[in-house]
Amino acid sequence: MKSDQLSKTAAFIAIKLYGLTRIPAFQSLFDDSVIKFYDRVVQNLPFPLNYYRYWLKFNWVRRLYIWSEELLLPGDLLHIIARKYYIRQLINELKDDGYRQIVVLGAGFDDLAFTYSQKGFSCFEIDVPHMAKYKQQFLNKHYPDSNHPDTINAHLTNNQQKLPFGSSSTINRDKKTIIIAEGFFDYLQTDLVENILHQIKQYFSDSPALISTHFALDELPLHHRWSFKTGVKTVGEELKLHYNITQFRKLLTSNGFIIKKQFDHQTIASKLQQKIGTDLPILQGFYLLMSK
Ligand SMILES: C[S@@+](CC[C@H](N)C(=O)[O-])C[C@H]1O[C@@H](n2cnc3c(N)ncnc32)[C@H](O)[C@@H]1O
Repeated sequence: MKSDQLSKTAAFIAIKLYGLTRIPAFQSLFDDSVIKFYDRVVQNLPFPLNYYRYWLKFNWVRRLYIWSEELLLPGDLLHIIARKYYIRQLINELKDDGYRQIVVLGAGFDDLAFTYSQKGFSCFEIDVPHMAKYKQQFLNKHYPDSNHPDTINAHLTNNQQKLPFGSSSTINRDKKTIIIAEGFFDYLQTDLVENILHQIKQYFSDSPALISTHFALDELPLHHRWSFKTGVKTVGEELKLHYNITQFRKLLTSNGFIIKKQFDHQTIASKLQQKIGTDLPILQGFYLLMSK
């Protein structure tokens, strides 16, 4: 990931969420304000990505898109809806437990920090400079009168591993905090992920709740693994954390995190399929974890 480029993986997450939530059953999982947010995000994307907004309004285009996506990487589409939906459920549970600060790592075009800024949370987003600037301009343009998250630019690399946790940081170390790493660690080398986990543990007085996704690529059939990696490479990004779920769990626990919840693709799929009556699958090897 370069610091001066728009993240296409982040853009396609927004596009896929936008496309699927044209369908009422999927739309019912989210507040209207969230649906509107992604509509605006896709509208605001640079050409030709913004054209998805127009085309995905047509039923036949969506069917074609879903068919081709399911052929290349089955479950990719529904896993986007699933992670956006389940992360929200986890945050709402943590809210009842007094958590009032959210830090989103590699925020991309995600709405969480903005959405929870309207609900009394202090929210922060961290992303590479280009993305952070883009997001800030987007919020200024479309939500001039709303509370905004604090958008911090940081391109984390093996040479620059520091999170914005210095003495002048506006992130309150004493507040009960939720850290979101959704589709983020996968793009970083193992040492860097380890260092980030260590910094998180050191900075906060109370252990924060870490909500993270993980893709265990070893659980995918070879041709789908290839599709996944190639798809990411085609848009100029790269998956770097090639850990199975046991290794990923160990990475968390060896850095002092206790895993409180873990959802796998089957559990998520059966709950979601039952809830909204879809027969779309969820990407094999996809996990959502909450650790403290
Ligand atoms: C796959 S996108 C996920 C976006 C968002 N979390 C979501 O799930 O909708 C990955 C995001 O991480 C950011 N990112 C990737 N590598 C990064 C790095 N080394 N430092 C900071 N941000 C990075 C990208 O710019 C991008 O916005």
